[in-house]
Amino acid sequence: EKTWVRMVTAQTPTNIAVIKYWGKRDETLILPVNDSISVTLDPAHLCTTTTVAVSPSFDQDRMWLNGKEISLSGGRYQNCLREIRARACEVEDKEKGIKIAKKDWEKLHLHVASYNNFPTAAGLASSAAGFACLVFALAKLMNAKEDNSELSAIARQGSGSACRSLFGGFVKWIMGKAEDGSDSLAVQLVDEKHWDELVIIIAVVSSRQKETSSTTGMRDSVETSLLLQHRAKEVVPKRIKQMEEAIKNRDFGSFAQLSCADSNQFHAVCLDTCPPIFYMNGTSHRIISCVEKWNCSEGTPQVAYTFDAGPNAVLIAHNRKAATQLMQKLLFCFPPTSDAHLNSYVIGDKSILK
Ligand code: PMV
Repeated sequence: EKTWVRMVTAQTPTNIAVIKYWGKRDETLILPVNDSISVTLDPAHLCTTTTVAVSPSFDQDRMWLNGKEISLSGGRYQNCLREIRARACEVEDKEKGIKIAKKDWEKLHLHVASYNNFPTAAGLASSAAGFACLVFALAKLMNAKEDNSELSAIARQGSGSACRSLFGGFVKWIMGKAEDGSDSLAVQLVDEKHWDELVIIIAVVSSRQKETSSTTGMRDSVETSLLLQHRAKEVVPKRIKQMEEAIKNRDFGSFAQLSCADSNQFHAVCLDTCPPIFYMNGTSHRIISCVEKWNCSEGTPQVAYTFDAGPNAVLIAHNRKAATQLMQKLLFCFPPTSDAHLNSYVIGDKSILK
């Protein structure tokens, strides 16, 4: 009997939050306690490439990550696969003589191969790009008609931050109100051309994998941190509005002030958690001091910093000139011969210093 394979490949960059998501109100559906805003990186850096394939000759769903087979049995993968399968439509490829009816998708099995163009263990967000790419590629393979916001609500069930990677530019994840999570999705605030003079530099402080996963950390924070309650109710709603204004007006001063304050509050929530979580280390703190001192001496901020659930610094420079000066300062403060040298710099967006 003649068999066939239908394949789709997609590429998705990771995103970095400037107003952080930390804390779930529903752990299964992955519903957050506050809105968040992120910037999506250039696909040339920190991105995932995923190929999904379907064939009547496949006898089970299988997935390979960076060439190594991994299990698809986890709830997060299963939720994404189930939600996409439920939206599958008829596919007809006359050239290849393939016709897949809507109901066939329930019986057909999938093979998934995913690659990160950066080391997965480097402590740099990889699940965001990974789940966004998986959901997007599957939607194309199965001819699902949903738009990117609707797909983001599915990617969200793989990893919360993944919902923001379905768009470029600046993206807002609206927390939503519905109990079923149907209105907890991402929308694009502005596209990647709106503020294209920004330069993102990631200083890799440590490539060790983090000790506390975001899932465990968030659970502990929600259960024990009073600061988290205050942050979600009183602080973030105002900051989201201010950040949206700053982005719309390309107001770098406000953008930097809000990003740094929000990163610092997120790490303060981690310290306020029982047991406390330490994601940043001494080198992270020195980078903060270095940037704060420089911004202060210039009178107006030149660089914003933000740290996720790990010690690596994401530095957002106002423009190429500020990025060049930042690199000089970092190399001066952390010379390759010192104990606290930075392992590498990942230069985002336009590579200015290759
Ligand atoms: O989606 P997760 O479980 O990887 O959580 C991400 C949490 C932070 O990166 C710390 C903040 C964020 O908004 O991305």
